[in-house]
Amino acid sequence: MAEDKVLIFDTTLRDGEQSPGVALNAKDKLEIARALERLRVDIIEAGFPASSPGDLEAVSTIAKEVRGSVIAGLARAVPGDVDACWEAVRHAAEPRIHVFLSASDIHLMHQLVKNKEEVREMARTMVARAAKYCPNVEFSPMDATRADPNYVYQLVEECIDAGATTVNIPDTVGYAIPYDFEAFIRSILEKVSNIHRAVISVHCHNDLGLAVANSLAAIRAGARQVECTINGIGERAGNASLEEIVMALRTRKDLIGLTTSIDTTQLMRTSRLVSDLTGLAVQANKAIVGANAFRHQSGVHQHGILKLLETYEIIDARDVGLPRGGILVLNKNSGRHGIKARLAELGFELSEEELNRVFEAFKELADKKGEIDDRDLEALVADERRTFEELYHLDLLQVSCGNQQVPTATVRLVAPDGQTLEDTATGTGPVDATYKAINRLVGVPNTLTEFSIKSITEGIDALGEVTVRIESGEHTYMGRSGDTDIVVASAKALLNALNRLLSAQGRPESAATG
Ligand code: KIV
Ligand code: ZN
Repeated sequence: MAEDKVLIFDTTLRDGEQSPGVALNAKDKLEIARALERLRVDIIEAGFPASSPGDLEAVSTIAKEVRGSVIAGLARAVPGDVDACWEAVRHAAEPRIHVFLSASDIHLMHQLVKNKEEVREMARTMVARAAKYCPNVEFSPMDATRADPNYVYQLVEECIDAGATTVNIPDTVGYAIPYDFEAFIRSILEKVSNIHRAVISVHCHNDLGLAVANSLAAIRAGARQVECTINGIGERAGNASLEEIVMALRTRKDLIGLTTSIDTTQLMRTSRLVSDLTGLAVQANKAIVGANAFRHQSGVHQHGILKLLETYEIIDARDVGLPRGGILVLNKNSGRHGIKARLAELGFELSEEELNRVFEAFKELADKKGEIDDRDLEALVADERRTFEELYHLDLLQVSCGNQQVPTATVRLVAPDGQTLEDTATGTGPVDATYKAINRLVGVPNTLTEFSIKSITEGIDALGEVTVRIESGEHTYMGRSGDTDIVVASAKALLNALNRLLSAQGRPESAATG
């Protein structure tokens, strides 16, 4: 690896998937992995194969299909995990086994209930076991920033001798402060005699809002791999955000002098895909990919950028994948070719069949609301992709409600066997009545744990996007849909979640790690 390059290790599919309420199915994971490959991340941590048969299968599918990045799997330092990990990643063009084990006294005493000697032995032997399978092995001493530094040096040194080619220093609970973390990474370079044989990586959590700052401080000290996620998703407050680290390195190359292999024009698109499939909204003021990241409100700023963009912008919006010429407005006279061209500019590659369905939905929406902009188009594509191949499909929804009425909904669904099913229910409001009718028709016990609605664009005629989460047994399923009628959007979102539940039935989701 060139000395002036920082490797980007994306863990959206592993740590990111551990975000509360997120459960991606195998199809979602493959779609995200393909997007990460297009983004040109160096390493994709595709999952934690020993956590469930479903995760093992998803990692192995990604390993077979996604050939442009190293494919890593996570493993605890136990033989079954290392073997399961190899089983999943061995199909990859370049596989990696990532072994982790707690290093802090607090974890050793209260979680592992093992002494330091025993833990060192486990780490050494499991790294050696992984190295027999594959030459690309990463070792992480978990909770390193709260561990005895001398113990971390010793663990790292022994694991490099056992075959680790990357040593990752996790700030598991987001405890580090940038100057302190920088000093810690420097000390590893000084105290670990064989460190020149491995790449130093860092994995920072965002509990104090410092994950990106800590990662940059570690890079300054000599780390040459960063572990991060799209939109910064992950356990608790999340991980370091990939887009922020990459754009900081790029924008301040004058100061930092390092590069990455990321195609930054794919950032916005990947961020939207991850938000769409996880159901985790991106806050409007989020750096790089938030809806307001390139918007100027104050008159003084607007005046400035009209004269010269650089007066108030340090990044060209096109560099992160925002389309040329700002947001384009289309209407019902726009033709199929125009829509196709705009979708291509927005980064969507649709099959002819997908394009036909999106175009139909576009015409329908344009009839209802006149002007359609890029945000509507993106929502239409996402909705078409979600509803295609659904098990249960909404055929009809009719509601009556008002301050003098008992809210009532009649729902007709097309079932997987093609039969139509119909029911009428009353509720506290039109959405409640609709949900009661749908649940009775589908007949799968579940609890609604989240319901949120947002407007895609401005104006009262805007598309309303509904996101729901339902729980069934141990598992959570997300559903999302958009429509100008928010009761219809609500119905389709619940059906989307139920369809995911039904497709995943019998398949346990991943176990959490940290
Ligand atoms: O936060 C953490 O320590 C982790 C490890 C498994 C690397 O996610
Ligand atoms: Zn983590």
